[in-house]
Amino acid sequence: MSEVEAMAARNIDPTAPVPFSLLPDSSEVDEKGELTIGGCNIAEIAAEYGTPVFVYDEQHLRSRCREAVASFGSEVAYAGKAFLCIAMAKLVSEEGMCLDVASAGELYTAIRAGVPGERIVFHGNNKSLKELQMAREYGVGRIVVDSADEIDRLENLHREDGRVVRVLLRVTPGVRAETHEFISTGQEDSKFGFGINSGAATAAVSRANSSNAIDLVGIHSHIGSQVFRIESFDKALVVVSDFFKELDLPELSIGGGLGVAYVEDDSAASISEWGAQTKDTCARLGITDARILAEPGRSIAAQAAITVYTIGTLKSLPGIRNYAAVDGGFVDNIRPVLYGSEYTSFAPQRVLEPRPDRARIVGSHCESGDIIIRDASLPQGLNVGDLIATPVTGAYGHGMGSNYNRMGRPPVVFVSNGEARLVVRGEMLDDLLRLDIE
Ligand code: LLP
Repeated sequence: MSEVEAMAARNIDPTAPVPFSLLPDSSEVDEKGELTIGGCNIAEIAAEYGTPVFVYDEQHLRSRCREAVASFGSEVAYAGKAFLCIAMAKLVSEEGMCLDVASAGELYTAIRAGVPGERIVFHGNNKSLKELQMAREYGVGRIVVDSADEIDRLENLHREDGRVVRVLLRVTPGVRAETHEFISTGQEDSKFGFGINSGAATAAVSRANSSNAIDLVGIHSHIGSQVFRIESFDKALVVVSDFFKELDLPELSIGGGLGVAYVEDDSAASISEWGAQTKDTCARLGITDARILAEPGRSIAAQAAITVYTIGTLKSLPGIRNYAAVDGGFVDNIRPVLYGSEYTSFAPQRVLEPRPDRARIVGSHCESGDIIIRDASLPQGLNVGDLIATPVTGAYGHGMGSNYNRMGRPPVVFVSNGEARLVVRGEMLDDLLRLDIE
């Protein structure tokens, strides 16, 4: 069944205009019937910065950060892997969130953005000695330790300089979140963390407690990403709480993972609902004194952005399908091919119009799998040169982009109060050669 047929089966009219619930908060329609975000006309942004282009509603990002702080307190961290650049790291800090980084590159971005060490949480299942050294030197506030080898490395570093780091231990509760296999992390068979059921987590706690290199402050668990059913978090908490309560530690992190709506018939809980439910569940499970931490990524950034493309080629195969090829693809959105993720599309200059036409929206890479939307609904009669956009591309889009076919990653523009500012410039041809040695 195609996406459109599936929608029809669920009583959703696939030919209806794109719902504003999938667009960034400040989306409006101007007198010409064209989409504006943050008071900026999207077609004008496309004309100025070229396409493809990621357009982020800055106020949307800020409001989700504030919601996270209101729900989980000032130690809640934004998971930078969802989308990170210097401007984003600054924004997150300004809004009072900590920043979760998971590599030297993400950490370096945080450092260059001036995020104080104390406000950084360092993650990773295989942190290198160099990365740990960098984190310790910058005074990172919390390291989430993932393995016994990492404890060895921290001890080696401690022997050299005597520095003690604040640590949470990542545990796997043995709970499978209902999401794509690639992004489910809480199950027993996982490369992440110490298993509770196997006893590995208990052994890690004993070791951490007796180590001079480590100040053990808490337990961390992250069950996966794009989790729609918030009951899944409760299932994990039931297991983790039994373990956690014995330890008398001050912090418990539930990780990230809150799902967001990508297409017309998705519905997802808000950050506030997730926070309220987490607090209730913790209280019910007898966790009353600990500080509850979280690391939302997608739920902060995903719906804040749209990607705008230009149609370059239209192809009609009678009895088979129509194709609309755009000037992006894998380079800006690998999620459809990697996870089978669904997106919807619309024409920013005809945003209120019904979408009776159907086409497969494909990118410009040399592979048939370079598909953005398998079966998209579009306004009638779009032509070569027209703009189309996909909403909900603010998380794991730009960040997972590549230079396949030596294509440059698109620019990122933040819009707010009628002003647009470039926060990541698009890669030019010379950027693609910058590592080549002639
Ligand atoms: N904390 C930890 C330890 C994580 O591993 C992740 C995501 C997060 C927080 C943030 O999760 P979020 O709130 O964004 O769901 N590339 C995939 C998602 C991978 C998520 C990896 N870890 C995608 O495009 O769906």
